[in-house]
Amino acid sequence: MKHNPTHIGQVESVSGNSVTIKMASNYPSNMPIVQGTVYRIGQIGSFLKIPLGYANLYGIITQAGVLAMPESLLIAYKENPAIVDGHRWLRIILVGEQVGSSFERGVLQSPTSGDQVHLVTNEDLRIVYGGYNSKSSIVIGNQSASEGLAAQLDMDKLISRHCAILGATGSGKSNAVSIIVKSISEKPFPSARVLMIDPHGEYAGLMTGKCQVFRVGANEADGEKELCVPFWALPFKELAAIFPGRLSDQNEDYIRGKVLDLKRISARSMVGLREEAITADSPIPFSINQLWFDLDNFERITFKADRTTPETLVALGDPATLKSNQYPTAGLGSSAPFLNTKAKGILGFLDGMRSRLLDQTYNFLFRPVGYSPNLNGSTNNDLPSLFSTWFGHGFPVSILDLSAIPSETIQTISGCILKITYDALYWGQNTLVGGKKQPLLIILDEAHAYLKAGENSISSRTVQGIAKEGRKYGVGLLLVTQRPSELDETVLSQCGSIIALRMTNSRDQGHVSSAMQDELREMADVLSSLRTGEAIVSGEAVRIPSRVKFFQAKNAVKSSDPIASKLWTKAQPDMAEYGIIVRNWRNQSFK
Ligand SMILES: Nc1ncnc2c1ncn2[C@@H]1O[C@H](COP(=O)(O)OP(=O)(O)O)[C@@H](O)[C@H]1O
Ligand SMILES: [Mg+2]
Repeated sequence: MKHNPTHIGQVESVSGNSVTIKMASNYPSNMPIVQGTVYRIGQIGSFLKIPLGYANLYGIITQAGVLAMPESLLIAYKENPAIVDGHRWLRIILVGEQVGSSFERGVLQSPTSGDQVHLVTNEDLRIVYGGYNSKSSIVIGNQSASEGLAAQLDMDKLISRHCAILGATGSGKSNAVSIIVKSISEKPFPSARVLMIDPHGEYAGLMTGKCQVFRVGANEADGEKELCVPFWALPFKELAAIFPGRLSDQNEDYIRGKVLDLKRISARSMVGLREEAITADSPIPFSINQLWFDLDNFERITFKADRTTPETLVALGDPATLKSNQYPTAGLGSSAPFLNTKAKGILGFLDGMRSRLLDQTYNFLFRPVGYSPNLNGSTNNDLPSLFSTWFGHGFPVSILDLSAIPSETIQTISGCILKITYDALYWGQNTLVGGKKQPLLIILDEAHAYLKAGENSISSRTVQGIAKEGRKYGVGLLLVTQRPSELDETVLSQCGSIIALRMTNSRDQGHVSSAMQDELREMADVLSSLRTGEAIVSGEAVRIPSRVKFFQAKNAVKSSDPIASKLWTKAQPDMAEYGIIVRNWRNQSFK
C-alpha cells in the first residue's frame, strides 16, 4: 500500500486532553512535501489531526523530543536510551473538533492508543483557522505552521476583552502594535477610535495619514497638535497627589474645601449645572494659583495687638507669579505681631506645590494653552473642545506622543489622560460618544513604566479600573510590555487575549505562561526561541491558540536612541552650552 504522506504516527497514551504521540520510525522526513507545500513536523505551536470516524480531533503541539514521552517510558529511557529505537515523540493538547467544514473549540470524544495521527494540511488549516467573521476580523500575519495561511484576530474580542502583547526588547512588540492598528484603520470604519500612548514617539511615522499626533511642544508645521491636560479636570485626590509633599487627612480636607469653594464660584457662570452636585472632584476650572496664594497667605498672616486685625503688609504678593504676601515677623511670647493660631502648618507642602506649579515640564497640566484658568477661574476653552480635539480630528487613531516628557512625569501625564478620558466615557455612557456607542481602544506601550505592581499612582489606579470595569463602558486596553513580571498581576489576569512574543528572561516567561490558558503553559519553553515578530497568540481574540508570524510594518519603527558612533564624529560643542544647561535647570525651563 502506498504510504499516506500525512500519516506521521500513532497515539500512545491519553490523559485528559493531553495526548502522547509516537512518530513512525520509518517516517521519511521532518519536512515532508504534501501537494507541493513543505510542512514542518514537530514545531511547537503547530497542529496535528486525529481522525475519529466522521470527526477529526485537533491538537496543538506543546512538547517535542524525549520529554514528550509517556512518564513510564521516560524512566526506562533514562536507563537505556536504546529503547527509543528511532522513534520520536510529541505531546499535543486537544483543542478542537471538526465535523464536515465546521470547527469547534473543545472536544467531545477522546482518542485511544493506536489511533492514527496525521499532519494537518493547508486545507484542514483553512477550516481550523477559518470561521472568522470577515467584517470584524483583522489579518495580522501568517500562521507559522504554514506560511500561506493568514493569521487573523477577532477585533471585537480583542477590544472588548483587553489584550496584552508581551515580549523582550526587540522581539517585535511595537511592530505588532502597528500592524494591529494599521489593519483596524484600513477597515471601512468611519468612527473607529483608538487612543495610543506612545512613550517613545515611534508610531507617528508608521501611521501617516491615519493618525493625529499630540505632543508637548508640538511641531504644528508637521500637523501635530499641542497636548493639553487641564489639571482642573482631575479628581481632587489625584490632583493633590501630583504635588510632592504629603498631607494629613485633616489638611487634605481643608484644602479640598478650598478647592470646592473655588469650583463653586467658577460654576456660577456655567449654565445647566446643579450647584449641590458640585464637589472638589468636579471637572470645573479654578485658578490653582489663587488656591496656592490663599492657602499660603493664611499660613503667613500675622495680626496686630487685638489679634484680629491683620498686620500691614511688608510686601504685596501676587498669585499670578506665585509670590507670597509678606507680613511683619511675629513677636515672641505675648507681644504683637501675633501668629495666626489657626494656621495649618502646611508651608512645606505649599512650597513643594509652588515649585511644581513653576516647573515648566508640567505646563501641559498647569498652563495648558486655552484651558488655563485666569485668577477668577474662567478659561477660553472648556472640556468639550478638548475631547473634540482629541477624538474629532477625522482619523481613527490619536497618538499621544510623550517622548519629550521626563519619565517620572510620564506616569502622571498618562495617568491624567487616562483618568480624564475614562471618566468622560463613564459619564457619557448613554451618549453617542460614550464607549458603549463608540468603543474606544486604549493602547499603552511600555506599560511597565506606569503600571508597576504594588504602586499607588494615578496611572496604575486608572488602568486597574479600566481593566476591571472598562468593558462595561466600552473601553478596551491593549497593554504592551517587555517586563510582564513587573506588571500588576490583576491587570494582566484581566487580559482576555495574550500575544506572547520572544521572551528570554525566565521570570518574565513564568508570568507570561501563567497569564496564558492553563493547557498551554508547557508551551512557555518555546517563547525563548521564537523568531522576531513571531508570537504565540492565545485567548478570546483567536478561535484557536496559534503560533503566528506578524507582518513587518513598511516604515520600520523609528528608534529615537542617539547613535553614538555617528554623533561623536561631530566637533566638540561650545562650552557655553553648559551655561544654558544650568540656566534652564535653575529656571526649570527648556528655553
Ligand atoms: N514581524 C516582523 N518581521 C520582521 N522583522 C520584524 C518583525 N517585527 C519586528 N521586526 C524588526 O525587529 C526590530 C524590533 O522590533 P520592535 O517592534 O521595535 O520590537 P520591540 O518593540 O519589541 O522592542 C525592528 O527592527 C523591526 O523592524
Ligand atoms: Mg517597542
